[in-house]
Amino acid sequence: MARQIIIDTDPGKDDAVAILLALAAPELEVLGLTCVAGNVPLAQTARNARRIRDLAGRRDPPVMAGCDRPLERALVTAGHVHGQDGLGGVALPAPAAPLDPRPAVDFLIDTLRQAAPGAVTLVALGPLTNIASALLRAPEIAARVGEIVLMGGAHRAMGNVTPAAEFNIHVDPQAADIVLRSGAAITIVPLDVTHRALVTPARHAAFAAARTDMGRVVAALTDPAGHTSARHGPEAVPLHDPCTIAWLLAPGLFDGRAVNVMIETQSELTMGMTVMDWWGVTGRPANARVLHAIDAEGFFDLLTARLARP
Ligand code: BDR
Ligand code: CA
Repeated sequence: MARQIIIDTDPGKDDAVAILLALAAPELEVLGLTCVAGNVPLAQTARNARRIRDLAGRRDPPVMAGCDRPLERALVTAGHVHGQDGLGGVALPAPAAPLDPRPAVDFLIDTLRQAAPGAVTLVALGPLTNIASALLRAPEIAARVGEIVLMGGAHRAMGNVTPAAEFNIHVDPQAADIVLRSGAAITIVPLDVTHRALVTPARHAAFAAARTDMGRVVAALTDPAGHTSARHGPEAVPLHDPCTIAWLLAPGLFDGRAVNVMIETQSELTMGMTVMDWWGVTGRPANARVLHAIDAEGFFDLLTARLARP
């Protein structure tokens, strides 16, 4: 039986690739796409999720809009990375269908309450505002969720939007704090992993060679040409969010460790920092499995093969 997941997302170029990988996977049943403000404002993430669903040739799963701003802080977006439309200006038609009218937070709560305990996994690809809002309203769902797999945070990789913080956690640190304290089973896919999942010209060429619509669009979303950074060098861009789906499909590609993770919510200097007790010096109990290694070749082989399926 396929594993049931809900993808909470802010598409976002790498979110789009993650959604396509999940929708193409027979091992997964995507029950819903719940959208949140993050890379771009909510109206645009909710529009993009439907455009991606259309590209996958699907009328399901339902796409719902959730929180349009973080719990306490002003929204910070990442249009400079994802383009003002969130998908780098890639040519995709307007959505074929309207949004599902259910509020995303209601959908999360209702789905988890109705499913058997442990049956549904949440995959979080953006700021954790929707999931924290659901936990605030219905704390009992923490014990009902199978696992929360989230892309966010960093250990040794430090930050990508500030010296100390990764984007998803930095945008809504209060939400991340609620999720990490909830008692739910959590797997964190941090920058330490995703900064090794680098699209290089050779890997990009393999996407383009897929000769499917998905391969063509993924190539357009991930083109490393012209991207040079002190961190990743020339012509390399990290593919963050699809690592979460790859973890569900092929956990053997990763290594992880159970540690205590706390979120900085006070200091503006380090706001959203994920403080990971790697060596157990605090005595605080582990509240997350943190992935720290990835077989990058295996990850790209998996992604390329799935995108090439007609
Ligand atoms: C995360 O931030 C967003 O810009 C990406 O979509 C990813 O979820 C990486 O820090
Ligand atoms: Ca994202």
